[in-house]
Formats: sequence, structure tokens, C-alpha cells
Amino acid sequence: CFQNIDTFLCRCIGTNAVVARNEATRKDETDEKDERKPLHAVRVERQEQAERSVLISCHSGTNEKKFLKYLSRHGVIKKYFFYESYGVYAVVEFANRESVASLFEEATIPSVSNDSIVPFKSRLLSLRNLSSVDSLNKQSDYQCQPQTTIPINELIQKLSREESIDHQMTSLTEAYQLTEENSRLRFLVCSLLKDIAVAYFPECTIKPFGSSVNGFGKLGCDLDMFLDLDGIHGWNVKMPKSGLSLEFQMKRANSERGVTQSILSVVGECVDQFEPGCVGVQKILNARCPLVRFSHQPSGFQCDLTANNRVAMKSTELLYLYGELDPRVRSLVFTVRCWARAHSITSSIPGAWITNFSLTIMVLFFLQTRRPPIIPTLDHLRELAGPADKSVIEGNDCTFVSDFSKIQLQTNTETLERLLCEFFDFYATFAFSKMSINIRKGKAQNKPEVAPLHIQNPFETSLNVSKNVNTTQLQRFVALCQESSWLLHQSESNMPRDGETATPWGLATLLLPSQVTGIKSCKKRRQEPASERIRSLLESLKGVPVLPHQGG
Ligand code: CTP
Ligand code: MG
Repeated sequence: CFQNIDTFLCRCIGTNAVVARNEATRKDETDEKDERKPLHAVRVERQEQAERSVLISCHSGTNEKKFLKYLSRHGVIKKYFFYESYGVYAVVEFANRESVASLFEEATIPSVSNDSIVPFKSRLLSLRNLSSVDSLNKQSDYQCQPQTTIPINELIQKLSREESIDHQMTSLTEAYQLTEENSRLRFLVCSLLKDIAVAYFPECTIKPFGSSVNGFGKLGCDLDMFLDLDGIHGWNVKMPKSGLSLEFQMKRANSERGVTQSILSVVGECVDQFEPGCVGVQKILNARCPLVRFSHQPSGFQCDLTANNRVAMKSTELLYLYGELDPRVRSLVFTVRCWARAHSITSSIPGAWITNFSLTIMVLFFLQTRRPPIIPTLDHLRELAGPADKSVIEGNDCTFVSDFSKIQLQTNTETLERLLCEFFDFYATFAFSKMSINIRKGKAQNKPEVAPLHIQNPFETSLNVSKNVNTTQLQRFVALCQESSWLLHQSESNMPRDGETATPWGLATLLLPSQVTGIKSCKKRRQEPASERIRSLLESLKGVPVLPHQGG
């Protein structure tokens, strides 16, 4: 949709927009040459973009040219795109916030005959066209940007046409990762919700976290949001030692948790009652981390709004940093996440399954144990931190470096194929019964408590990230690692086929539904071990670590 936009805009909305577009392009180009930015810098930029954007429900026959011409009367449009989700929508980013105000001046309140309406004006609008006999007859001419991933069968076919497993892994990453447009939409939804929350807390922000921003999100993943009240002025202002001063009278509660619950309850109620497009609002306030869950229909996002989750914000930043350090990190994480989903090791329903977050930490840990390591330990990242990076949240040390230029990586030239194979071997033989996965140390530690799978939370070190996982699920994971390792060692399933026929091979074979092992088929294979290597892999299932990877 952004292709040829210069010529297009030139024709329909005049040269100003083109100038803005060219500047934007130049900026994007320079951004590419820039040093990688820490997540908080990316966030500031994206939030600011979102504030200048509106979301417009369009009818299917919308004429792109007329639409842009109409909107550009309010100011220069910097970027826009169309997408489909229960109808056609457009995200329009203006160059200035004043344009949104100007657009609000002109927009009307719907006149409804039977229903009554809540007169809350949001930046979610509908395009009306009362006079257009012409547009009804016309075919729509805009192109929609996909907001969901291709189905697994199509992915398997696509991967089968690649020429190496390394290419398959990068191709999978490209097909699954969030697009520029999807990422903008996520920030826009946060910004729309913030508009409601500021009615109570004018200085608050709503920030996305988790896979929406950590670099490991797949198109269609949920939108985790944090209602941030830390930016409210006055938290850290010291009372003068002498003379008169004023302080706010504020309502008190028994605990911070209580405050979080009441804020989320009220904001959740407003989202439910007033925010257009938000449906199925559930307040889950008694959870360990209280949240409001709902579906934002215009974007199609399943949203979780939390309010007291600062440590999760830090783990999001950490994952983002690791993902930016070496391109192999994201490719391996995407591949393992996709493989796990294809075999129902992970699920969208909460339960005893391994979560994507746990899986990601397992991949990071594995990469730390390579020789030489591909990514540094969290302790090392803490050592590199400067004074501005210092962060202690509820007594937990969350300090780590944010400046990429301070991080020196060691030279490791292993291919993605090798890493994938080694990943499966590593966890097929890992001493889960005794050891805990620890990315702070980059070495397996003795388990501090009984749990089938123990992954130390990187910041709240007394917590186990995978506390929910039961023995059956861990065994399924191990059995599938064994099977996938075995498959990757078979030369016939591991050779590129004729590109035209697209017969599954390599990574594509690992994703095939017919390969779902479960414990049953694992038992079947036990009777016919293919080689000494497989036998030793199977031994590890019984809790006898043949090759304990205690730190690599
Ligand atoms: N989180 C955490 N500890 C957990 C679970 C989650 O700190 N036990 C934090 C992580 O920062 C995680 C975020 O909360 O990224 C959101 O959790 P979740 O939605 O479960 O995971 P995502 O990483 O967003 O992955 P998904 O794509 O499955 O949503
Ligand atoms: Mg999530």
C-alpha cells in the first residue's frame, strides 16, 4: 500500500504530503543506519506516532483517492494503510496532532432512532458516504495489509521450496513476525484506550509489553498492555525541609494490589461501557497479576490490560535486547515457537502447557551455553549497565545495560540448521529432574524446589516461570525434541527437494501434523531405536542424564 505512494499522493492530495512522505522515508533510511535503539526509545517514537493517528471504519467500496483527498483537508497525512477485520479499516497517521483535532471538529455524532448512545468521542471513526452513487458502482481500489499469519499448510509448502534449513528458518521468521503495520496498530489501540484512562489519571500512559514489542511476536498474538501511572508528577518530588508546602490528599488502601484492583476495575468498567469496539470485557482481578481481558474488534486483538506489572516490562525489554543482538536469536525462537504450536506443546488456552515466554527463555538459555556463547548472560549485561540503567522494582534488581554499543559478542559462526539440531539434542537430554534453567547465570543450577520444569524468572529470582507445567507436558516436549532431533539426523528428510513439487523436507517435515508424537508414538519408537544416539536420547526420558548439559 505504501508503494508508489509519492506519485499517488502527488496526484490526489498535492505536494505537501509528498514532502512529508519523502522526509519520512529519508528518516526511515537514516534510522536503518543508526545504532540499534533500546526498546524505550522505540516505544517513545511509536507512542508519539499513535497519538497522531486515527482508526477509520470504511465501507468496502471506499475509493482510496477520494478518501485521502477528503482527510488531507485536515492536514498532511504521513502514512496510512488499509486492513480487514470484521470489515475494512484504515489507519491514518497525520503529520501533526492538530489534524486530529480538526477532524474531530468536523465529525458528527451519529443520529440513532431507537438506541441511545454514549457521547464519548474516540479516535475510532466511521466513514460515511451519503452522496456517492459513483462509489457504490466502483470496485474498491485499495490493498489490504494482512494482519494474520498464513495457515500452517501454506507455510509448510512455502518452506519446502526453500533451498536450505537456514533459509527455511529465516523464511518462517519473515512470514510470522509482526509487520510494521501490525505494530503501529498495536500502539494505536493502546493510545485509544489511554484516551479513556486519562479521564481519571491525566498523566497516565498505556504501554504494550510482551510479544507485541519484544521482537518475538507472531501476527495474531495477544496484546498485553500496562496502565502506567509512574509518570504521574510528584512521586519523586522531595518535600522541602523548611517553610510551607502543599501535598495532595489522596485516598489510601491496604495494599498496592488493592489499589491496582480498584483502578483496573474502574478503567475496565469504562472500557466496557464507553469504549467503542471493545467487547467481552472480563475483569480478572483476583489473579496473581490482576487484569482486564477483552477483545478489541476493530483490530481483532485479544487484549490483556494490567496495572502493576513493572517487572514484566523489564523482561520485555530484556527479550527485545537479546533478540536484537544476533539475528539467529529471533529465527531460532520463531522456529521453536512455531514447531511447539504445530505440535500443541503450547496452546492459546491457559493450562499446564509450556508458554511461549518459557520457551523463549529456554532458547535464550541454550544460546548462552554454546561454545563460544551466542548471547551473554544476564549477570554480564548487569555488569555492563550504566547509572541510568539502574532499576530496582519491588526489591528485585532489574538492572541491565540498554546501550547496544557496550555489548561485545563473541565470534560464533554456527548455522541456524546446526543450532536447531543442537537445540533439540540439548533439551532431549537435559537433566530436567534435577536442574533449573537460569539465564542470569547461563548455567543450569540445582532446582530450588520440586517442579517438573524449573525456569528461574530472570528478575523475580524466587519465582519459577514454568510453575504451571506438569510432568505430562514436559514429557511431551522432551519426546518431541527427541523425535525432531532424530528427523533432522535422517539424511533423506534433510535434503532439499525439487523446488517445483514442494515435497516437505527439513524444517517443513518437523511441522507436519502427522509427526505429532505425544507420549504414545514415543513409546513405539522405543521398541525400535534407530541408532546408539537415539538410544541414549531415550535414556534421558527415564531421568538418567546421559549427557547432562549442566551449563553446556
Ligand atoms: N511474563 C512474566 N512471567 C510470566 C509470564 C509472563 O514476566 N510467568 C511477562 C513476560 O514479559 C511476557 C509478558 O509477561 O513477555 C506477557 O506474557 P504472555 O502474554 O504470556 O507472553 P508473550 O511473551 O506475550 O507471548 P504470547 O505471544 O504467547 O502472548
Ligand atoms: Mg502476550
